[in-house]
Amino acid sequence: AHQWRGVITEYADFLPEHLTTHVVTLGEGGTPLVPAPALSQRVGADVYVKVEGMNPTGSFKDRGMTAAISAAAARGAKAVVCASTGNTSASAAAYATRAGMVCAVLVPDGKIAMGKLSQAVAHGATLLQVDGNFDDCLVAARKLAEAYPVELVNSVNPDRIEGQKTGAFEIVDALGDAPDIFVLPVGNAGNITAYWKGFTEYAAAGLATRTPVVWGFQAAGAAPIVRGFPIDEPETIATAIRIGNPASWPQAERARDESGGLIEAVTDEQILVAHRVLSADVGVFVEPASAAGVAGLLALSEAGRVPSGARIVITVTGHGLKDPQWALRTPAGDEVQPVRVTADVVSIATALGLD
Ligand code: F0G
Repeated sequence: AHQWRGVITEYADFLPEHLTTHVVTLGEGGTPLVPAPALSQRVGADVYVKVEGMNPTGSFKDRGMTAAISAAAARGAKAVVCASTGNTSASAAAYATRAGMVCAVLVPDGKIAMGKLSQAVAHGATLLQVDGNFDDCLVAARKLAEAYPVELVNSVNPDRIEGQKTGAFEIVDALGDAPDIFVLPVGNAGNITAYWKGFTEYAAAGLATRTPVVWGFQAAGAAPIVRGFPIDEPETIATAIRIGNPASWPQAERARDESGGLIEAVTDEQILVAHRVLSADVGVFVEPASAAGVAGLLALSEAGRVPSGARIVITVTGHGLKDPQWALRTPAGDEVQPVRVTADVVSIATALGLD
């Protein structure tokens, strides 16, 4: 029986050689591409979700981190640093400990989901909660890596992009060609850059007949690319994409423009509705940021902008267990109250409406 060997080994032919000499892997990639009939029906298209929460640390970051840490290991690095809204720190911490490296993570104080914080701590990272937002953390991390013997493993590190482009390869491999439209949330804009690189390279190699149109979605309170200027104090419940000055901004615009796509904004309310549709109707539990792509698709559908019958793939980026509190609120914002029963079958049946 064949076991998936992680994205570097599986896609070595499409990756730079310096990634393949000291492979550090936790078996990332090979994630399910799940048909989403509930979404297909709503928007009148053929919709799939690429479930990146199934990666070893629960987000797409693992695809990039296996590459960044493998390259750092090949160079003999002893320590890595990253700025993070949470998922990058969880992933960096796991892959660094696997490689025997020290890992420092800079996160915005009080704005990180508990699951992600726990992961970074569990994997032995040194966690610094910075009095500032993600953008401040990234500036500091970059300066630290310039002045001290620590390697930066944020997505400004080109190895991260190389690893993450394998998400596009897997979609084409599963469908036999590129989808018509590819949808994803946009924060620091590394992933949209990586997917566009992957789709473009696969088409150039003759493994796809075309590239998809790319639709990216930012949270309305953190939508610098949509608004056209950096946001000093980004705000959204989708803390993973609470970013005001994305490092890969120009690359994101290139992916949008070369693909004939768009980058638009969705409100926190739209994100929470999409989050609920994904969990309750599709059967996939994601963190709020990961629902931004679905929120965008639903919004464009309501505006009559989804071509009927199009094949659409949405990457849902992180697992719902990272930040589970959002499931425990009603759409009106009230807390979901558990139904309490005594441990006898009659009261349980009554509570279930079975009699
Ligand atoms: N979805 C999730 C769950 C994320 O964690 C991120 C980014 C994104 C989407 C956006 O991806 O930055 O490549 O445009 N999280 C980073 C972090 C910033 O630190 O974990 P992007």
